[in-house]
Amino acid sequence: MALANDFAATLVEKDRIAQRVHELGVQIAKDLQRSIAATPPGQEPHIVIIAVMTGAMVFVADLIREMPIKLRIELVAVSSYPGTSVESKGVKMKSALPDNLAGSHVLLIDDILDSGQTLHTLIDLIHAAKPATLRTCVLLRKPGKAKLPVNPEYVGFDIPDEFVVGYGLDYDGLYRNHPAIAILRR
Ligand code: IMP
Ligand code: MG
Repeated sequence: MALANDFAATLVEKDRIAQRVHELGVQIAKDLQRSIAATPPGQEPHIVIIAVMTGAMVFVADLIREMPIKLRIELVAVSSYPGTSVESKGVKMKSALPDNLAGSHVLLIDDILDSGQTLHTLIDLIHAAKPATLRTCVLLRKPGKAKLPVNPEYVGFDIPDEFVVGYGLDYDGLYRNHPAIAILRR
Protein backbone atom coordinates (compact mmCIF):
# COMPACT_ATOMS: atom_id res chain seq x y z
CA MET A 1 0.00 0.00 0.00
CA ALA A 2 1.36 3.41 -1.00
CA LEU A 3 1.72 6.04 1.69
CA ALA A 4 1.18 9.20 -0.36
CA ASN A 5 -2.64 8.99 -0.46
CA ASP A 6 -2.78 9.39 3.30
CA PHE A 7 -1.17 12.84 3.32
CA ALA A 8 -2.96 16.18 2.90
CA ALA A 9 0.27 18.08 2.18
CA THR A 10 4.03 17.97 2.49
CA LEU A 11 5.26 20.41 5.11
CA VAL A 12 9.03 19.91 4.90
CA GLU A 13 10.65 18.28 1.87
CA LYS A 14 13.39 15.69 2.18
CA ASP A 15 16.13 18.00 0.85
CA ARG A 16 15.24 20.81 3.22
CA ILE A 17 15.41 18.39 6.15
CA ALA A 18 18.84 17.18 5.04
CA GLN A 19 20.15 20.75 4.69
CA ARG A 20 18.85 21.75 8.13
CA VAL A 21 20.14 18.56 9.79
CA HIS A 22 23.58 19.33 8.37
CA GLU A 23 23.46 22.89 9.77
CA LEU A 24 22.33 21.63 13.18
CA GLY A 25 25.04 18.98 13.29
CA VAL A 26 27.79 21.50 12.54
CA GLN A 27 26.49 23.96 15.15
CA ILE A 28 25.94 21.34 17.87
CA ALA A 29 29.34 19.72 17.32
CA LYS A 30 31.00 23.15 17.61
CA ASP A 31 29.14 23.93 20.85
CA LEU A 32 29.90 20.52 22.39
CA GLN A 33 33.55 20.84 21.45
CA ARG A 34 33.64 24.17 23.27
CA SER A 35 32.21 22.50 26.39
CA ILE A 36 34.78 19.71 26.15
CA ALA A 37 37.60 22.25 25.85
CA ALA A 38 36.42 23.85 29.12
CA THR A 39 36.61 20.55 31.07
CA PRO A 40 38.70 21.04 34.23
CA PRO A 41 42.11 19.28 34.08
CA GLY A 42 42.08 15.75 35.48
CA GLN A 43 38.47 15.12 34.45
CA GLU A 44 37.60 12.90 31.50
CA PRO A 45 35.07 14.69 29.26
CA HIS A 46 32.23 12.62 27.80
CA ILE A 47 29.54 13.48 25.32
CA VAL A 48 26.33 11.47 25.64
CA ILE A 49 23.44 11.74 23.22
CA ILE A 50 20.10 10.65 24.64
CA ALA A 51 17.62 9.90 21.87
CA VAL A 52 13.93 9.75 22.73
CA MET A 53 12.48 6.64 21.15
CA THR A 54 10.83 5.93 18.88
CA GLY A 55 10.12 9.24 17.14
CA ALA A 56 13.68 10.61 17.20
CA MET A 57 15.33 7.57 15.64
CA VAL A 58 15.47 8.76 12.03
CA PHE A 59 16.51 12.30 12.98
CA VAL A 60 19.21 11.08 15.37
CA ALA A 61 20.57 8.61 12.82
CA ASP A 62 21.08 11.44 10.33
CA LEU A 63 22.21 14.09 12.83
CA ILE A 64 24.99 12.05 14.44
CA ARG A 65 26.57 11.51 11.02
CA GLU A 66 26.88 15.30 10.70
CA MET A 67 28.76 15.50 14.02
CA PRO A 68 32.41 14.47 13.64
CA ILE A 69 33.13 14.26 17.39
CA LYS A 70 33.55 11.44 19.91
CA LEU A 71 30.22 10.61 21.50
CA ARG A 72 28.12 7.85 23.01
CA ILE A 73 24.50 7.17 22.16
CA GLU A 74 21.88 6.16 24.70
CA LEU A 75 18.16 5.61 24.22
CA VAL A 76 15.17 6.37 26.39
CA ALA A 77 11.76 5.02 25.54
CA VAL A 78 8.82 7.24 26.34
CA SER A 79 5.25 7.13 25.17
CA SER A 80 2.92 10.11 25.19
CA TYR A 81 0.53 9.44 22.29
CA PRO A 82 -0.60 5.86 22.77
CA GLY A 83 -2.19 4.33 19.68
CA THR A 84 -4.53 6.50 17.65
CA SER A 85 -4.53 9.52 19.97
CA VAL A 86 -3.38 12.87 18.54
CA GLU A 87 -3.39 14.69 21.89
CA SER A 88 -0.70 14.35 24.53
CA LYS A 89 -1.90 12.06 27.32
CA GLY A 90 0.90 12.55 29.79
CA VAL A 91 4.29 10.90 29.76
CA LYS A 92 5.02 7.27 30.44
CA MET A 93 8.66 6.23 30.89
CA LYS A 94 9.12 2.84 29.24
CA SER A 95 12.83 2.48 30.04
CA ALA A 96 15.24 3.63 32.71
CA LEU A 97 17.41 6.68 32.23
CA PRO A 98 20.99 5.80 31.19
CA ASP A 99 23.35 5.74 34.16
CA ASN A 100 26.72 7.48 34.52
CA LEU A 101 25.46 10.83 33.28
CA ALA A 102 27.22 12.68 36.11
CA GLY A 103 29.83 15.06 34.71
CA SER A 104 28.90 14.31 31.08
CA HIS A 105 27.88 16.73 28.38
CA VAL A 106 24.40 15.55 27.50
CA LEU A 107 22.46 16.28 24.34
CA LEU A 108 18.80 15.26 24.59
CA ILE A 109 17.13 14.77 21.20
CA ASP A 110 13.45 14.41 20.38
CA ASP A 111 11.44 14.57 17.19
CA ILE A 112 8.96 17.29 18.14
CA LEU A 113 8.13 19.73 20.92
CA ASP A 114 4.37 19.91 21.34
CA SER A 115 2.89 20.30 24.84
CA GLY A 116 6.39 20.04 26.33
CA GLN A 117 5.50 17.24 28.75
CA THR A 118 7.96 14.73 27.34
CA LEU A 119 10.99 17.00 27.39
CA HIS A 120 10.05 18.68 30.67
CA THR A 121 9.89 15.29 32.39
CA LEU A 122 13.16 14.08 30.85
CA ILE A 123 15.04 17.32 31.53
CA ASP A 124 14.08 17.12 35.24
CA LEU A 125 15.25 13.51 35.46
CA ILE A 126 18.53 14.19 33.64
CA HIS A 127 19.28 17.28 35.75
CA ALA A 128 18.95 15.13 38.85
CA ALA A 129 21.75 12.92 37.46
CA LYS A 130 24.10 15.96 37.53
CA PRO A 131 25.50 16.21 34.01
CA ALA A 132 28.17 18.88 33.39
CA THR A 133 25.96 20.41 30.69
CA LEU A 134 22.55 19.58 29.24
CA ARG A 135 21.33 20.78 25.86
CA THR A 136 18.12 19.90 24.07
CA CYS A 137 17.49 19.53 20.35
CA VAL A 138 14.21 18.96 18.51
CA LEU A 139 13.61 18.62 14.80
CA LEU A 140 10.19 20.29 14.99
CA ARG A 141 8.45 22.69 17.31
CA LYS A 142 4.83 23.85 17.36
CA PRO A 143 5.22 27.40 18.71
CA GLY A 144 2.75 28.47 21.35
CA LYS A 145 1.62 24.91 22.16
CA ALA A 146 3.94 24.25 25.09
CA LYS A 147 2.14 24.17 28.45
CA LEU A 148 5.41 23.71 30.28
CA PRO A 149 8.55 25.85 30.00
CA VAL A 150 10.88 24.01 27.63
CA ASN A 151 13.35 25.99 25.53
CA PRO A 152 15.46 23.75 23.30
CA GLU A 153 18.85 25.17 22.33
CA TYR A 154 18.40 23.70 18.84
CA VAL A 155 15.24 23.62 16.73
CA GLY A 156 15.09 22.37 13.17
CA PHE A 157 11.79 23.89 12.06
CA ASP A 158 8.90 25.76 13.63
CA ILE A 159 5.69 24.36 12.18
CA PRO A 160 1.97 25.19 12.37
CA ASP A 161 -0.25 23.31 14.81
CA GLU A 162 -0.99 20.34 12.56
CA PHE A 163 -0.57 16.65 13.27
CA VAL A 164 2.47 15.65 11.23
CA VAL A 165 4.06 12.31 10.33
CA GLY A 166 7.15 11.05 8.54
CA TYR A 167 10.91 11.19 9.17
CA GLY A 168 10.39 9.21 12.38
CA LEU A 169 7.05 10.68 13.46
CA ASP A 170 4.10 8.33 13.53
CA TYR A 171 0.36 7.99 13.74
CA ASP A 172 -0.54 4.71 15.45
CA GLY A 173 2.94 3.41 14.66
CA LEU A 174 2.70 4.13 10.93
CA TYR A 175 4.45 6.53 8.52
CA ARG A 176 7.79 6.74 10.34
CA ASN A 177 9.55 5.62 7.15
CA HIS A 178 8.19 8.46 4.99
CA PRO A 179 11.25 10.60 4.08
CA ALA A 180 9.50 14.00 4.34
CA ILE A 181 7.37 15.69 7.01
CA ALA A 182 3.73 15.50 5.93
CA ILE A 183 0.36 16.57 7.29
CA LEU A 184 -1.88 13.59 7.80
CA ARG A 185 -5.19 13.63 5.92
CA ARG A 186 -7.98 13.32 8.53
P1 IMP B 1 4.76 16.61 24.05
O1 IMP B 1 5.12 15.77 25.23
O2 IMP B 1 3.31 16.99 24.04
O3 IMP B 1 5.67 17.80 23.81
O4 IMP B 1 4.81 15.68 22.79
C1 IMP B 1 5.96 15.23 22.30
C2 IMP B 1 5.78 13.85 21.75
O5 IMP B 1 4.48 13.65 21.19
C3 IMP B 1 6.77 13.68 20.66
O6 IMP B 1 7.88 12.95 21.14
C4 IMP B 1 6.00 12.92 19.61
O7 IMP B 1 6.26 11.54 19.76
C5 IMP B 1 4.54 13.16 19.88
N1 IMP B 1 3.95 14.16 18.95
C6 IMP B 1 3.63 15.44 19.22
N2 IMP B 1 3.12 16.07 18.14
C7 IMP B 1 3.12 15.15 17.15
C8 IMP B 1 2.72 15.18 15.77
O8 IMP B 1 2.26 16.19 15.19
N3 IMP B 1 2.87 14.02 15.08
C9 IMP B 1 3.38 12.89 15.63
N4 IMP B 1 3.78 12.81 16.91
C10 IMP B 1 3.64 13.93 17.67
MG1 MG C 1 7.95 10.77 20.78
